[in-house]
Amino acid sequence: MLKINFDDYYRILLNDFEEQILNIHDKMEKLKNDSNQYLGWIDYITDNKEEITKAKVLGEKLRIYKKLVVVGIGGSFLGAKSFYDILKDRIDTQGCELVFIGNNISGNYLKQILEDLEKSDFAVNVISKSGGTLEPAIAFRMVKDLLEKKYGQEAKERLIVTTDPVSGNLRKLVGSTGYETLAIPGNVGGRYSIFTPVGLLPLAAAGIDVDELIAGVEAGKNDFDRRSTDNLAYQYALARQLAEAKGKYIEIYTAYDPTLSYYMEWLKQLYGESEGKDGKGIYPMSVINTRDLHSLGQFIQEGRQKHFETILWFEEDKKISFNSYENDFDSLNFLAGTSIDMINRKAMEGTRQAHKNGGIPNILIEVKELSAKSLGYLSYFFMKACGMTCYLLGVEPFNQPGVEEYKKEVKKLLKELN
Ligand code: PA5
Repeated sequence: MLKINFDDYYRILLNDFEEQILNIHDKMEKLKNDSNQYLGWIDYITDNKEEITKAKVLGEKLRIYKKLVVVGIGGSFLGAKSFYDILKDRIDTQGCELVFIGNNISGNYLKQILEDLEKSDFAVNVISKSGGTLEPAIAFRMVKDLLEKKYGQEAKERLIVTTDPVSGNLRKLVGSTGYETLAIPGNVGGRYSIFTPVGLLPLAAAGIDVDELIAGVEAGKNDFDRRSTDNLAYQYALARQLAEAKGKYIEIYTAYDPTLSYYMEWLKQLYGESEGKDGKGIYPMSVINTRDLHSLGQFIQEGRQKHFETILWFEEDKKISFNSYENDFDSLNFLAGTSIDMINRKAMEGTRQAHKNGGIPNILIEVKELSAKSLGYLSYFFMKACGMTCYLLGVEPFNQPGVEEYKKEVKKLLKELN
């Protein structure tokens, strides 16, 4: 399902790192069974079939509503948002439109959405593991008020709470109100929670085939849980570490389809929040080509060379093309009838070659199709690689002390407001 083309010098060093990679693999395998650690995502889909079915069934029931408002931030929204953006126009099943709030504090953003919801038929899924994050907490208060004003008694049936199974404000709320609820296990951190109800409920509501998605993760587990340096997730992790050792501190995720924009936001959170600590890590950024070849392309090709590129390419042919013109006014007749996706492919190959000519290291990840299954597979690949990459670098992948720091400072200022 997945093919990776690394620059050759990464591969040559694989043997030198074999022992370290296998030791880290063993460490992850051991820690995944420790409920006080955060590697519960590795076996989540095998160990939590009931909760997965519950998320799927509840999500499918929500399809009767026009919109599902998903309240969450960071790992509590990026997975669902990214899969939804990619898949919503690639599936036939009619589901809810997903509307995401609670991921910023813009008054303008909230006002627009709440005004629109007043005229819409909607349900709400609030997602917060801690139950105490400011952005979703504010948005939740406002959308909950609207839901109750609009639907009265029926509001309760239209609200699902996804949170920690035992602690936090939302869990308390569920206890006192009896809202329908789903659990984010204690040993799964936000940015590793896409295959828990955090991602599965909204995606099922949107009409996405959750069984297919899980089948993709299963296939991913088959390939990327292997204790071997042939494991492509571990090879990618090593390639990143070697790039960093050579002074390449920026990884540019590059896609050639605008629907992948949020998928790269998900990747940026996964790697940025897991790896960027103790003065270490690779700064993840992203571009959408060919759009950004006309903005950042110049810098990437010829600016300060601290970056390497990871290209995500999905094989897809929508079989559309343009017609030939008698006067060939723009000299494009030679491409008439050629698939647009083939032209896009050539743009990717040509740009890749130009970047290689400019000495920019390059990793090409090619995925056979763009589907719930392939996305499940690819995402598990990136999650597994991320764990390995952090341990190779010597940082703890599953905390985010820097995020806590900003929260503290904002809280201080907010307290001064009254
Ligand atoms: O990866 C993480 O743990 C974070 O990005 C969280 O997902 C984010 O801060 C939101 O937290 P919560 O779900 O507790 O509201």
